[in-house]
Amino acid sequence: MKKKPLILGIETSCDETAASVITENEQGFPVILSNIVSSQIDVHKEFGGVVPELAARSHIEKIDLITKKAIDDSGIKIEDLDAVASTAGPGLIVCLSVGLSFGKAIASSMNKPFIAVNHLEGHALSPKLNSNLNYPYLLLLISGGHTQFLNVKNLGDYKRLGTTIDDAVGEAFDKTAKLIGIEFPGGPQIENYAKKGNHEKYKLPKPIFHKGGCNLSFAGLKTAVLKISKQIKTEQEKYDLAASFQKTVEEILYKKSKIAFEEFKKNNNTNHNKFVVAGGVAANKNIRKVLEKLCHEEKFEAIFPATSLCGDNAAMIAMVGLEKFKLNQFSNLDYPAKPRWPLDKDAQYLKGAGVKL
Ligand code: KG4
Ligand code: ZN
Repeated sequence: MKKKPLILGIETSCDETAASVITENEQGFPVILSNIVSSQIDVHKEFGGVVPELAARSHIEKIDLITKKAIDDSGIKIEDLDAVASTAGPGLIVCLSVGLSFGKAIASSMNKPFIAVNHLEGHALSPKLNSNLNYPYLLLLISGGHTQFLNVKNLGDYKRLGTTIDDAVGEAFDKTAKLIGIEFPGGPQIENYAKKGNHEKYKLPKPIFHKGGCNLSFAGLKTAVLKISKQIKTEQEKYDLAASFQKTVEEILYKKSKIAFEEFKKNNNTNHNKFVVAGGVAANKNIRKVLEKLCHEEKFEAIFPATSLCGDNAAMIAMVGLEKFKLNQFSNLDYPAKPRWPLDKDAQYLKGAGVKL
């Protein structure tokens, strides 16, 4: 029987130090053998956001222990690995450099292939770790730094259908949380606050709701939240603002996804349309529910990563590594860290956000 590939994934693009070993089963489906994520929340809390120098220092302190734990937990020996995959971008360059150099060092010392991975491609493929997902599919990537609709035609073949023209949706969650007075990282807490609030209390704007195709905008929403946050006095008003904000985001994502569905159908001739929602914000249960409803109405299959795999992790980096390994798509050891690294080839030709309104 042919040996199944064993891939080590390493992720240090922002404030999570993560390592994971994955393989695949007899049917060719990926299997996570270990998945270690060490968050730096305590390091950055007092600053109200991620401090790049501190993040890099923390990655340097932890990367070897986290990787050793991932190998030990997987039950394999390091010499059994077939390839090492590290995130090379996009992200904070001082942070990326840690995992990238560490991954290259392991690969070269064992004479194994090295694979540089785009972090966004990790999010894009993350649902493959818990569902049977084939290309093509429509992807809504909603994270702290990105908000995009992409036509995922194949591994490495992405076409952007729409994007935010200003803030990412995760950023809007984080800023709203900060304005309400929730401690860093506040984004996920908005979901809890919203449960106790009245979503009809505050009328918030939905920028470019009726124009711009499936492009999105959240800056005006943030400004409106800022104004209201200065007037609120009670806890209940905070809950109401969180609920009103989250409801507005749900409505924007519902409407823009519906437009993206049409774009996707124009570009693909498939009788099984799939909609993947990935990235940190995809953990939000209300957003999942609203997009599942849309999929039901429009006859798309809704596919989400496991909640534990929505945020940054190394299993998704190893997942990309596994697919690339099977296609012999390896990287040289001088592969650079890329703080900016759009998934779609055309992005570099777009002016600004490349959006005509
Ligand atoms: O994918 P991710 O872990 O890191 C990036 O690549 O950016 O996404 C982090 C983002 C943060 O903005 C965080 O506030 C948001 O995801 N997030 C959430 C939830 N959990 C994480 N936003 C809304 N609801 C959640 N439950
Ligand atoms: Zn991410």
